[in-house]
Order: sequence, then C-alpha cells, then structure tokens
Amino acid sequence: MREQWGTRAGFILAAVGSAVGLGNIWRFPYVAYENGGGAFFIPYLFALLTAGIPLLIMEFTIGQKYRGSAPLSYARLNKKAEWIGWWQVAISFVIATYYAVIIAWAMSYSVFAINLSWGEDTGGFLFGEYLKLDVDPGQIGSLVPGVFIPLVLVWIVALGVLFAGVKKGIELANRIFIPTLVIMFLIIVIRAVTLEGAAIGLDAFFKPDWSEILSPGVWVAAYGQIFFSLSIAFAIMITYSSYLPRKADVNNNAFIAGFSNSGFELLAGIGVFAVLGFMATQAGTTVGEVAAGGIGLAFVVFPQIINSLPGLNGLFGFLFFASLVFAGLSSLISIVETFVSALQDKFKISRTKAVLFGGGLSALISLLFATQGGLFLLDAADHFINSFGVALAGLVSVVAVSWFFKQLNPLQKHGNEVSDLRTGTWWKVCLGVITPIVLGYMAVQNIINSIS
Ligand code: PHE
Ligand code: NA
Repeated sequence: MREQWGTRAGFILAAVGSAVGLGNIWRFPYVAYENGGGAFFIPYLFALLTAGIPLLIMEFTIGQKYRGSAPLSYARLNKKAEWIGWWQVAISFVIATYYAVIIAWAMSYSVFAINLSWGEDTGGFLFGEYLKLDVDPGQIGSLVPGVFIPLVLVWIVALGVLFAGVKKGIELANRIFIPTLVIMFLIIVIRAVTLEGAAIGLDAFFKPDWSEILSPGVWVAAYGQIFFSLSIAFAIMITYSSYLPRKADVNNNAFIAGFSNSGFELLAGIGVFAVLGFMATQAGTTVGEVAAGGIGLAFVVFPQIINSLPGLNGLFGFLFFASLVFAGLSSLISIVETFVSALQDKFKISRTKAVLFGGGLSALISLLFATQGGLFLLDAADHFINSFGVALAGLVSVVAVSWFFKQLNPLQKHGNEVSDLRTGTWWKVCLGVITPIVLGYMAVQNIINSIS
C-alpha cells in the first residue's frame, strides 16, 4: 500500500512548505525590484496564471492519477517518458546538496544574531571568519567546522523527518514548520514596516517602472521566478500528490498552493524593502544603493542593518534567520523526498533504506560545500542548475505531455472528475502553446548566455 497524507490540509501545507523557501525571502524581492518594481507584477501574475498554476495542476494530476514517484508516474503515463522523471529527480538531487548548506549558514546566523557576534564588518565576517575563504590555498578542501556542524544538524532533521514517513514525518513537520514560519515572519514584517524610512523602501519596491515592461528579459525573469518559487519541474509536486487519496481534489489545491506561495512572496518583499528603506535612511543614501539579492542580502546586508536597528535587534535577527531555516527545511525535505520515493519505487526497497542511501549520499556530497572554497563550488552548481536545469526540464515535460504523448485531454478529464473546480480550454492553451513558447525562448537564452 502506498503511503497517504492524513488530511487535505496536510497535503496543502506540505506543498506550500516546499514552495515557500529561500526563493521567496531573498530571491523574489530583488528580482521584482530589478525588473520594474510595481510594473513587474504584470508579467509575474501572467506567469503565475499561464504557467505556474496550470503546471501545478498538471503535476498534481499526474501524481494523483498515476500514484508513483516522478519516474514511475511518467513511466505509467507512457513507457517512453520515464527518463523525464529521472531527469527532474537528478536536478533535485543536485539542488539538495547545496540548498542544505545555505540552511546551515542560516542556522549559524540565527545563533550569531543573538549577540550580534558578526561585528561591524559583516562582509569580512561572512567570507573571512565564517566561510574561511581567506586562508592559504593549501587549506582548500578542508572542512570548516562552523559550517560542518550546523550542516550535520540540518541533515539529521531532514532525514529524521523522512525516515518517519509521509504522514508521521513530512506532514507533521510541515504542520509545525509552516505556522511557526508564518508567525515569525509576520512579527518581522510588522516590525519592519514600523521602522523609520520603511515607506521609502516600500515606495522603491512598488513604484512601477514601465520602461522595461516589454523587454523579454523581464518576462523571462518572471517565468523563472514562478518556476523556481513553485518548485515546478523538480519532481516534487508529482511525488507529493502521489500520496493523495484517490478522490482528492487537485485543481483547487493547485490554486490554493499557488496563491499562498505568492502571498508569502509579497509579504517577504514588503518586509525586506521596509528594512532596506530604514537602512537607506540611516546611511543617507537611496534604496537602490543598498538593495541586493541572494547571499549578499541575507548574510551581509541584513546583519549590517540588524546592527543598527533600535531595540531588541538580536531578537529581530534571530527571527529572520530562524525563518530562513524553517522555510528552507520544509523545501529541503520535499527535494530529498523526490529521490527517496524514486528509489523506493524503482528498486522496491523500504523507505528506511531509500533514505539511508539516497539521503545519505546527498548529505555526503553536500559536505564538499562545507569546505574552504565551498562557496565557489556552490556558485558553480547553482549556475549550472539554473542554466541547464529549470527551464529545460519544464519545457521538456510540458511538450512531452501535451504534444508528444497527447495526454492533456485524459489528464484534464481525470482532474475535473476529482475536483470541485473544473479547468477549461484555457488550461490546454496555457500548457500546449503559451508555456512551451516562453520556456523554449528561456532555454535557448540560458544556453546562449552560458556559452558566450
Ligand atoms: N521553491 C523553493 C523556494 O522558493 C525552492 C525550491 C526549488 C525548492 C526547487 C525545492 C526545489 O525557495
Ligand atoms: Na517559493
């Protein structure tokens, strides 16, 4: 018997837990700001409605109908399609190895926050004292204990949850992580918007810049954000929906998960930019000068801002980094579950063995990123995945399902039978026409960019 979710809310929380991750907190605010601020919401919403939610519906339906890990579900859809599932699982495997490392950093930083032990020079602290990038080259390759220890903790939690299974592990963990995350993040946002200068930051974030709205780059950024953010084409949503009961709703659940993720993204944008506005006011500069994304935002700029916050700044810092940990862990669990489930189905082994082999292997590989010089590897891995993984895997799966194996009609029929909300022709147009065109363009662009 295949494992099952205990409740509908459990499944939705797990899907939202996978979607809400580092991408919402540090990727979205910056991508939106760089690509037109308020004007970005148009391509963003367009991408959500034409690609994000339709694909989420497709993946939920595939998982629920074929009741297998991604490779098995694709194989049941058509024997020739199994490799699509394996490709997606492989991407997830690579992401897991470095995503875990960033969560480990956030874990360290939530401790550092308590007494602001990162000091005044937060950039120097991150790269020198914490990541030890400034050592002599002979040391490259040796483990950095400050990263290694939290990394081991991250894997103990993630693999522990996976050992416990779908209902007693993944569902229970998300029932705890997601409400905790929402509460912590609401406190952060309320504190952020009441800071001096918050309005300036929000103004910079929401002020529409229409000049770029027609440039393809902005639209590509919107689609890229939606894909990464919704964890689409990573085998995750197929795996999670394969644990749904036979009659469970898929269409409605996809809308709920999609809108919850975007809601959290918007909330994160408001929080982050309110804080950046505060910093600009303190430093007497513009928000543009302090805005940054990715690692720099979370581990250099934020600690700097936290230093100068009025009152209880250690607590604010702790809540911020702890939210990164909770958001990240629930995503990591979902990524690792893709290959745990695939191994179970393929080799008919128990969950315990699959977690030991699959999860254990990715944990071991992730140690590479906890060495001196690991940051360069991490950057390279992330770049590789973004260039060759995401858009291409998404493209291949929609084209295969809609054109090659002509499965849109049967999938839609199944989805509409089990769901309150019925999809119409628009769903097939989005998946068969609009999404392949945009993703095809993205994939070509990415490949061109990475060879030139
Ligand atoms: N969706 C997650 C986020 O926004 C990231 C993620 C990508 C999770 C791929 C799993 C797989 O951060
Ligand atoms: Na997300």
